[in-house]
Amino acid sequence: MADASKVALVTGASSGIGRATARAFLDHGYAVVLVDRDETAGLATEQAFRAAGECIFLPCDVSDEQAVETMMARAVSAYGRIDAAFNGAGIDGGFTPTADCTVETWDRIMSVNLRGLWLCLRLEIRQMLSQGGGAIVNCSSGAGLAGVPGLSAYSASKHGVIGLTRTAALDYARHNIRINAVCPGMIDTPMWQRSIPPEVTEQLLINDPIGRLGQASEIAAAVLWLCDPAASFVTGQALAVDGGKSAG
Ligand SMILES: NC(=O)c1ccc[n+]([C@@H]2O[C@H](COP(=O)([O-])OP(=O)(O)OC[C@H]3O[C@@H](n4cnc5c(N)ncnc54)[C@H](O)[C@@H]3O)[C@@H](O)[C@H]2O)c1
Repeated sequence: MADASKVALVTGASSGIGRATARAFLDHGYAVVLVDRDETAGLATEQAFRAAGECIFLPCDVSDEQAVETMMARAVSAYGRIDAAFNGAGIDGGFTPTADCTVETWDRIMSVNLRGLWLCLRLEIRQMLSQGGGAIVNCSSGAGLAGVPGLSAYSASKHGVIGLTRTAALDYARHNIRINAVCPGMIDTPMWQRSIPPEVTEQLLINDPIGRLGQASEIAAAVLWLCDPAASFVTGQALAVDGGKSAG
């Protein structure tokens, strides 16, 4: 077992917000377990990050109960504990009016964004109970705070993440485990670039308070703070990191 004083586990660590958050944990002295279903990108991330600190990539589809159990056992056997966790793995699903969303799309989005997050969350909590505490951040979205036309399944899954976060926070507030959510606004990641054409981004930014896309590192900074003892009295919150979008 590697000797690590602080250990973080990040799902969705091969790309975008998860990758930036994993890097921020590394830069703050954590050993980091990088989890993603994309094995090629995950191994490349591990290789790229190795010079910055202790990390290991574990391939896992978070919607697969058995795979999550195996991954979590390997993570604990590698580093002995999990002090901080960021549940960032998520998928979108294209824009479709609510009545036209297929059952297949609905189930796929829910299985990763909500069920998959919960599968990870419950094992992180069990590990933290056994070691005496920890902090967890779940990735919701601006679409978890308000409806977005065409994104019924995604928005429902991200609203669900906030309900799950609040409930889990109450369940474990007296066990030294803090559980919060971040709600990123429009963030310039591969997911954003895949889903939103540049001309639509331009249009969206016209009425946006801050007038630019956020960077993945700006979400990572919020996650790091929520996991830090500096946030020791913060639990059960859904923190919008969105350049003011949800304020209007
Ligand atoms: N980019 C945005 O504007 C934005 C806004 C709000 C919320 N979010 C949320 O932030 C999180 C990260 O998004 P991103 O923009 O960085 O996307 P991304 O597509 O760049 O990265 C997502 C990562 O999650 C991994 N992943 C997907 N399904 C998985 C599964 N079943 N098991 C394991 N790994 C899986 C992917 O392989 C990928 O590496 C997501 O939960 C997303 O919903 C993003």
